[in-house]
Amino acid sequence: MARKRVAILISGRGSNMTALIEAAKDPAYPAEIVLVLSNRPDAAGLARARAEGVATAVVDHSRFGMDREAFERALQAELERHRIEIVCLAGFMRLLTPWFVRRWQGRLINIHPALLPAFKGLNTHERALAEGATHHGATVHFVVPEMDSGPTILQDRLRVLATDDVASLAARVLEIEHRIYPQALALVARGEVAIGDREPQPPLRW
Ligand code: GRF
Repeated sequence: MARKRVAILISGRGSNMTALIEAAKDPAYPAEIVLVLSNRPDAAGLARARAEGVATAVVDHSRFGMDREAFERALQAELERHRIEIVCLAGFMRLLTPWFVRRWQGRLINIHPALLPAFKGLNTHERALAEGATHHGATVHFVVPEMDSGPTILQDRLRVLATDDVASLAARVLEIEHRIYPQALALVARGEVAIGDREPQPPLRW
């Protein structure tokens, strides 16, 4: 079966992006990373992607002001230009509109640094420590219009240690992220998981 053409959307350092690129170097991996797209021209992950020989694009959200759909139409144009089949959000710090999410539903996945449905949103490690959570972890999920709420694809957990601070917890969760994101993308690319009985997706034109 042909490998699925994947775009990774980033806003920052891109360590999850790197984990996906590394996994996809295996010819047996069911997906290839053909595009890294950032909404920030200064995202550190862009240089890393280029060094790995992956095409990059920047769609700078600040050029679109408050017009989120215009921003997303520009994203969509890049994805179409590269004939993308699956989109991975990896530290992409823009909320996507229902228009875009429905367009990609079932083919759009995200990684979140918490055990969803616990700790949706930002500052997950701070909140887990503040609330005295005994366990914490990371979740890869399908994206739906409501933030951090789509069906889980993979999740893994760790025990929070009495000695943990935000930095140590973030570092240990990041190890989980780098392990489960490539595994989850492989499941989606092989068609071994799907989003279930939601609205049918529009067919891709390529
Ligand atoms: C990760 O913790 C990810 O779970 C969250 O944003 C962070 C991105 O880190 N959504 P990186 O850019 O992949 O290193």
